[in-house]
Amino acid sequence: MKKVYFGTNLKMYKNIQQTVDYLKELEKGTELINREEYEFFVIPSYISLPSATNSVSQDKIRIGAQNMGWEEEGQYTGEISPRMLDEISVKLVMVGHSERRHVFRETDEEENKKVLCGLKHGFTMLLCIGETENEKEFGISNEVLRSQLIKGLHCVRKEEVKKIWIAYEPVWAIGVNGKPASEEYANSKHKVIKECLIDIFGECGLEIPVLYGGSVNPQNADSLITQEYIDGLFVGRSAWNAEQFSSLIFKSIDTLKKHNKKVM
Ligand code: PGA
Repeated sequence: MKKVYFGTNLKMYKNIQQTVDYLKELEKGTELINREEYEFFVIPSYISLPSATNSVSQDKIRIGAQNMGWEEEGQYTGEISPRMLDEISVKLVMVGHSERRHVFRETDEEENKKVLCGLKHGFTMLLCIGETENEKEFGISNEVLRSQLIKGLHCVRKEEVKKIWIAYEPVWAIGVNGKPASEEYANSKHKVIKECLIDIFGECGLEIPVLYGGSVNPQNADSLITQEYIDGLFVGRSAWNAEQFSSLIFKSIDTLKKHNKKVM
């Protein structure tokens, strides 16, 4: 059985001090929660990463990077190498966030190079996928998700499955103009994702946690997390206040317990 995951991406918000204060408050607010059953992670800006990894225990809150170059070094102005992340004890790297794909025009092939490079360096790789509004309207969401998974995870070996996390974040659900997916819709797409992971890796594909993200908020968090195929929540705006995020987490855990959804 798997853990339940709660994480946030701070995007291009919070300076170094704000990030450190946020992390300390979140660590304190969640200190009583059993980390064998629940996993917490925060993905701050690059510039905050060294202070972030020094300010909390990563057994309590795992610190992730928002992106990574796919070479160890070279003539890649503006890129950050896996060796540099390793040097500051980052253990988790997110790739393929919707804003990377749609604002910065990154492709599945590029995400795949990053996934493979990150795995080589021992990082846990959080690959984000999701269909656009247009793709949903054309009725090709499942095909898009399958294609992003097949390309993004190309050449990943079965023994590396333990180091892969997936975030399903429909593009139309993300950010201030996003509308959250209903829990039924999200659950049905998570099922498609899990079936595809089984196609790729066999039964061990089911070990990969699949997190939902896109306008998760205090009102919808517990109904999303209790869905059969949803293993965690990847929260943006509603997590950027540590107290609010802790209370969303506590409420979700309470609901999970009431629903008797098995954790671990
Ligand atoms: P949101 O962001 O919760 O603010 O919609 C989600 C994300 O971009 O991961």
